[in-house]
Amino acid sequence: MNDKENFLTQIKLLGKSLVLFSAVIVSICAFILYLVLNPNADIFKATPEISETSSIDTTSTAEISSFEGEIKNGIHVPTGFVEDDGLEAVINNCTNCHSAKLVTQNRMSKENWLATIRWMQETQNLWDLGDDEPLILDYLATNYAPKEKGRRANLEIEDWYELKQ
Ligand code: HEC
Repeated sequence: MNDKENFLTQIKLLGKSLVLFSAVIVSICAFILYLVLNPNADIFKATPEISETSSIDTTSTAEISSFEGEIKNGIHVPTGFVEDDGLEAVINNCTNCHSAKLVTQNRMSKENWLATIRWMQETQNLWDLGDDEPLILDYLATNYAPKEKGRRANLEIEDWYELKQ
């Protein structure tokens, strides 16, 4: 084998490895392209499922809403809830899945508030409210009781004054 032949075989070898090398690069690029263009690929599947369940996960509720924000004229500004005993429990348990407005725009008797809570527990994954339940129910029944419509509330007159003639 002379020098020239030796040189040629080396070139051929180099060529072969180049082809192999580029084939690997092309496959990697194709795989990356596939992942980018197809976000539903198996690799990504786990992530959205985890975040879906965590939105109604009891453990995350404390982080999502804690009792923060100003109270102005007896109204908790960020949510619009009336300030009263149980406000914190209501904010922590009733603003995770829907807006506070869905609560404040409703007016119900205590029985109907309880029925609404039971309905959400049975069909909407609302958790057991535990010790907070009576507190929440009292809060709702007191501050979001049915409004009397046909008739105005009785006047409460504290100081009668005498007519001077
Ligand atoms: C786990 C999620 C979740 C939590 C927490 C939750 N709700 Fe709901 N609630 C729902 C869903 C879902 C609906 C239906 C929403 C819709 O119809 O758009 C709903 C609807 C309602 C409605 C309207 C019912 C109707 O008949 O239209 C009221 C009132 C309500 N919730 C009050 C509350 C109160 C009070 C709390 C706190 C004790 C609470 N929710 C906590 C999921 C939840």
